[in-house]
Amino acid sequence: MRASFVPLVLAAWLCTPANACPSSQVNLETRDSLAYSPPVYPSPWMNAKAPGWEEAYSKAKDFVSQLTLLEKVNITTGVGWMAERCVGNVGGVPRLGLRGLCMQDGPLGIRFSDYTSAFPTGVTAGASWSRDLWLERGYKMGSEQRDKGVDVVLGPAIGALGRNAMGGRNWEGFSVDPYLMGAAGADTIRGLQKAGVVATAKHFIANEQEHFRQAPEAVGYGFNISESLSTNIDDKTLHEVYNWPFVDAVHAGVGAIMCSYQQINNSYGCQNSKLMNGVLKGELGFQGFVMADWQAQHTGAGSAVAGLDMTMPGDTVFNSGASYWGSNLTLAVLNGTVPEYRLDDMAMRIMAAYFKVGRTVEDQPDINFSSWTRDTYGYVHAAVEENWEQLNYQVDVRGDHATHIRESGAKGTVLLKNKDGALPLKEPKFLAVIGEDAGPNSQGPNGCPDRGCADGTLAMGWGSGTSEFSYLITPDNALQRQALRDDTRYESILNNYAWERTEALVSQPGAIPIVFVNAGSGEGYINVDGNRGDRKNMTLWKNGDELIKNVSSINPNTIVVMHTVGPVLVNDWYDSDNITAILWAGVPGQESGNSITDILYGRESPGRSPFTWGPSEESYGTEVLYKPNNGGGAPQQDFSEGAFIDYRHFDKVAPNKGDKGAPIYEFGFGLSWTTFEYSNLVVKPRHQKPYKPTEGKTKKAPSWGNYSPNLEEYVFPGNVRRIDQFIYPYLNTASSGKEASNDTSYGQTAEEFLPPGALDGKPQPLHPASGPNGGNSQLWDVMYEVEATITNTGKTISDEVPQLYVSLGGEGEPVRVLRGFDRLERIQPGKSVTFRADITRRDLSNWDVSKQNWVITKEPKTVWVGSSSRNLPLKAELQ
Ligand SMILES: *[C@@H]1O[C@H](CO)[C@@H](O)[C@H](O)[C@H]1NC(C)=O
Ligand SMILES: *[C@@H]1O[C@H](CO)[C@@H](O)[C@H](O)[C@H]1NC(C)=O
Ligand SMILES: *[C@@H]1O[C@H](CO)[C@@H](O)[C@H](O)[C@H]1NC(C)=O
Ligand SMILES: *[C@@H]1O[C@H](CO)[C@@H](O)[C@H](O)[C@H]1NC(C)=O
Ligand SMILES: *[C@@H]1O[C@H](CO)[C@@H](O)[C@H](O)[C@H]1NC(C)=O
Ligand SMILES: *[C@@H]1O[C@H](CO)[C@@H](O)[C@H](O)[C@H]1NC(C)=O
Ligand SMILES: *[C@@H]1O[C@H](CO)[C@@H](O)[C@H](O)[C@H]1NC(C)=O
Ligand SMILES: *[C@@H]1O[C@H](CO)[C@@H](O)[C@H](O)[C@H]1NC(C)=O
Ligand SMILES: *[C@@H]1O[C@H](CO)[C@@H](O)[C@H](O)[C@H]1NC(C)=O
Ligand SMILES: *[C@@H]1O[C@H](CO)[C@@H](O)[C@H](O)[C@H]1NC(C)=O
Repeated sequence: MRASFVPLVLAAWLCTPANACPSSQVNLETRDSLAYSPPVYPSPWMNAKAPGWEEAYSKAKDFVSQLTLLEKVNITTGVGWMAERCVGNVGGVPRLGLRGLCMQDGPLGIRFSDYTSAFPTGVTAGASWSRDLWLERGYKMGSEQRDKGVDVVLGPAIGALGRNAMGGRNWEGFSVDPYLMGAAGADTIRGLQKAGVVATAKHFIANEQEHFRQAPEAVGYGFNISESLSTNIDDKTLHEVYNWPFVDAVHAGVGAIMCSYQQINNSYGCQNSKLMNGVLKGELGFQGFVMADWQAQHTGAGSAVAGLDMTMPGDTVFNSGASYWGSNLTLAVLNGTVPEYRLDDMAMRIMAAYFKVGRTVEDQPDINFSSWTRDTYGYVHAAVEENWEQLNYQVDVRGDHATHIRESGAKGTVLLKNKDGALPLKEPKFLAVIGEDAGPNSQGPNGCPDRGCADGTLAMGWGSGTSEFSYLITPDNALQRQALRDDTRYESILNNYAWERTEALVSQPGAIPIVFVNAGSGEGYINVDGNRGDRKNMTLWKNGDELIKNVSSINPNTIVVMHTVGPVLVNDWYDSDNITAILWAGVPGQESGNSITDILYGRESPGRSPFTWGPSEESYGTEVLYKPNNGGGAPQQDFSEGAFIDYRHFDKVAPNKGDKGAPIYEFGFGLSWTTFEYSNLVVKPRHQKPYKPTEGKTKKAPSWGNYSPNLEEYVFPGNVRRIDQFIYPYLNTASSGKEASNDTSYGQTAEEFLPPGALDGKPQPLHPASGPNGGNSQLWDVMYEVEATITNTGKTISDEVPQLYVSLGGEGEPVRVLRGFDRLERIQPGKSVTFRADITRRDLSNWDVSKQNWVITKEPKTVWVGSSSRNLPLKAELQ
């Protein structure tokens, strides 16, 4: 137990004058050769006139201008890990009736609650390529969170993007393609916020693997490193690839963005001024707030001036009772280390996001669950077991969401192979369902905390991005129910290691085996069978490949269903004549069995692959860094491949079928129930004014400070009972002297140890690419309207997903990039429909590093339309 009195220790606040708190603690000798992040100060303040934010900011101003210094600090600082009901809570403003905001995971539904839905994972939602489903999924997830009392949802995940095919958390996001990721993320955000909760786009940025994302975690698995991984990215790649989905998030009006654990160019994500001040708030004009990932904050004043607005969960280290902010921030504002306007800006951004989604202070609902117990009664302050009261009201928030989940899971299933119309099934005589992945977890659907195990069917990955199942329909459940309806003989063997019985079953005449296999991954704090978040290999789990090969060696009608978090290696068996159909059923959530049944029996149309299926691990050209490569210092991961990840890489090194390393199934690929013909490509130019870089200056920093300099007024009030470990905004003592702060730099002025410009509140020049909602608004000017005709030339109704790719031309550019798509539903046989897409200025631009702006180069540009990244029958040059 820690004593409740925590001395003010501010030594870790120091930044070198030249830099935004880089990880200069290690490798000083080699520092010159390490990637470096340039300082960008001061931190851009709110623009209360930003379109879409005016009303929110006017309400925020009414509220924040009434707040005292302590109250403002309170709403920026988490109260500590497990200190209240949610995975994160900030302090409240009891005087004005605001309870502390509740932050709750996550990207596929509510974590740590009950009577909630487990939605399809991001990657399955992504594979549907359906804007309607994304919006609906967001709205339904948001309603559940809202009805439990959550204010801020910790999702969607739009990074990890998927640079590393085996990256542990790729499945939380929608696709490895930035355009598809951005589109799905933006619609999810719109849905969530329409339901009245603040969405959080995460993780900003380049958080592409689990290994070494946090140094202490790595020490836990045997690597003694003093600093977390640094992902080193050049400016062009950052803009054109990793930041692209975040632009869409900001454009969609996202209220919060979470900064990431690892370092970027050797500066931690939550104190990287180039990224938070420069890119996010400067260039993208982000008007919401930046929240730290849990324990991702490493400095107090340093992170404040670099653009962080809220610290989570508030304590420096879980349950330490100490915070970089709280008391520390109060003192820092009082003595001028953190400018007053910066604190006002934090509070304004947080409250503006809150009001923007329609929440009010007057009608703020109670939180009717606790993350830390499923009992009805428990401790409000779970970490220290204080304040026993009713925490859980078992409110059922699921509504009719199962229907959506079932549909979304089916439409996100990809049909990779279908020989001679093996599918859909039509009242088959005899089904033999094989494999553990068709069955239940022997310990129940929630048998493993945060889903951290491999037992039974895989319906989500593991980690914080999970939710509790209220039920889980297994494939075995649903297929048996269907079989009974059709008088189908049905036998299942839910075990990968029962070959004798399996052989006896699938060799019987007329048997149609469906072999279910899987491969999982998750977040780095859980190790499943040697997979520390990131996968350790790209093969199927539990002898899946051998099981498929065994079954198909004796049965000529074998169907394979894979529940996997991403691509797996299928080389050994995909082209076997005995394997008549292959389905990637993703990670579909609670309706898993119903979703796959709807596809197997042809009641729904399948989706398209949101990533490439390469022939080997090496064929991807990028990989997880599994071993530290910089001694005891921060492991260095150079994104030297630039934009060339997934299909951009495959198109470059193996453009043709048959080339060594060519994809087995390319990005965007997926069969339908029919055949389609593409014709009549029409590209209409729309004339726009030439692009004008943004000019001018901001207003000066607004501030509502006027604080009393008398430190006595900020000391812990005598009439408040202090909860142990709880993070408060109060000072422990009125003494701000050297002894109390224990700060070796005490007496130095802020100017001496903060980077130049960090305190400046004068009007600042606007970034040339900037604008208030994701950047210069001309980037969304429509330059071309594209149309094509899609005709169903087969005999069955089916959905089609036309895709539009553009080649931007020039040396070192990808062959083509996705710039449009649509899911056209239920196209009748013989009927034609029109695919329409707009090409914006942004879609045709490259990032010019020297101009620090987007430019349309003089290189010839081509547009293609087709059904996948490698099947593009229509083509036109753009003038
Ligand atoms: C990282 O360093 C590269 C190479 O110098 C530079 O292009 C890029 O802008 C830097 N990015 C950040 C976020 O510091
Ligand atoms: C700060 O928040 C805590 C927790 O909600 C609350 O108990 C306390 O009264 C707040 N302090 C102020 C100054 O409002
Ligand atoms: C949750 O239920 C409790 C008890 O019925 C209620 O006080 C609270 O307002 C509810 N919260 C929401 C968000 O409906
Ligand atoms: C890790 O390395 C540091 C610095 O080299 C050393 O002080 C510490 O004892 C090491 N810890 C472990 C667990 O080996
Ligand atoms: C202030 O921050 C320092 C780290 O810089 C920490 O050690 C100290 O405990 C914090 N003080 C309080 C009261 O949380
Ligand atoms: C790959 O990892 C999975 C899961 O840990 C394991 O079941 C499988 O045996 C591994 N494959 C190979 C070829 O080692
Ligand atoms: C595959 O078949 C061989 C015998 O041919 C058997 O030894 C092995 O256990 C089987 N493996 C699986 C996973 O079914
Ligand atoms: C296909 O199945 C038949 C049994 O029906 C078997 O004789 C043949 O060897 C199998 N072919 C392959 C490629 O596994
Ligand atoms: C102040 O720092 C010294 C030396 O680092 C340490 O021994 C002492 O415990 C610290 N005092 C407090 C109150 O944190
Ligand atoms: C403000 O207080 C902090 C914490 O004690 C200290 O590090 C800093 O030097 C002080 N600044 C001034 C100008 O006194």
